[in-house]
Amino acid sequence: MKIAVLAGDGIGPEVTREAVRVLEALRLPDLVLMEGDVGGVATKRHGTPLPAETLEMARTCDAILFGAVGDPDCDHLDRHLRPEQAILGLRKELELFANLRPAKLFNGLEDASALRPEVASAIDLLIVRELNGDVYFGEKGIRTLPDGQRQGWDMMAYSESEVRRIAHVGFRAAQGRRGRLCSVDKANVLETSQVWRDVVTEVARDYPEVELSHMYVDNAAMQLVRNPGQFDVVVTGNLFGDILSDQASMCVGSIGLLASASLGEGSRGLYEPIHGSAPDIAGQGKANPMATILSAAMLLRHSLHLEDQASRIETAVAKALADGVRSGDLGGTMGTAAIGDAILERL
Ligand code: IPM
Ligand code: MG
Repeated sequence: MKIAVLAGDGIGPEVTREAVRVLEALRLPDLVLMEGDVGGVATKRHGTPLPAETLEMARTCDAILFGAVGDPDCDHLDRHLRPEQAILGLRKELELFANLRPAKLFNGLEDASALRPEVASAIDLLIVRELNGDVYFGEKGIRTLPDGQRQGWDMMAYSESEVRRIAHVGFRAAQGRRGRLCSVDKANVLETSQVWRDVVTEVARDYPEVELSHMYVDNAAMQLVRNPGQFDVVVTGNLFGDILSDQASMCVGSIGLLASASLGEGSRGLYEPIHGSAPDIAGQGKANPMATILSAAMLLRHSLHLEDQASRIETAVAKALADGVRSGDLGGTMGTAAIGDAILERL
């Protein structure tokens, strides 16, 4: 079982270190961890955010544990040299098209949510975000208009097959949960979304036991803070999923808690916290490693089929939170390593 550990930039190395400690504590036989450079660190060392050797390592591993990428020092570079291209490149090159982002309120965190406790405590949802298409991967550019102004443009597009395969993931996820799927789009304005909605509706015929609804993304953003308990599985495109998952994270207390799995057709996957590199607190040992530790649990579940070990980690995190273990993002004072220790003790 080979795992590529790609820690990346900012707080990436700090939070990844704690997740690696947790994986190692499980003493799994045959577990091999390999490290590779990605992001701004890789651009500085190798002149590219996703070096060929890192991509090759990722290809030959069973799973990838990813920290974060993003570095303000690189923001002036051409887009293909920016740290974010590392994660976009891995998702695309490995055809990891399905991003699972669960959000559930942990016991004891009712007061950490940006929402009222009685609203927040009902949250138990899964965002299924498409990851290989949309405006993220369309043609883009900056051109000069006849009047001399610059105009930035990005092409948004979804083909039927791209929508179909993510819709199946959404429906199957709903089958394994409470049987409800909400497809989020902007079909009242965008043709991309019209095709999305039509295809999701077609795929629904294969899943008569799943209750499908459609919602415009503006309404979904509103419903997510008004009554998030109404959602079971939400399936949506790359851009809307990016935005709604950050929003969902604050509904359950902190962006430092949300884990994610990026999957393709096989069992290889990439696992990362949904938060970024947080350059403002990088290197200070105060980032919350829980999202990365929970991502490691998802790795064990989805790529290595070690459900027991995955739930052991999740239970340890839940216990730590119930016992009042809190980093700064949750109003506490504990540092990254102390949180790691607290989870290891409970494991
Ligand atoms: C995420 C991140 C990435 C995205 C960035 C770092 C490119 O925000 O995983 O949500 O936009 O997908
Ligand atoms: Mg994001």
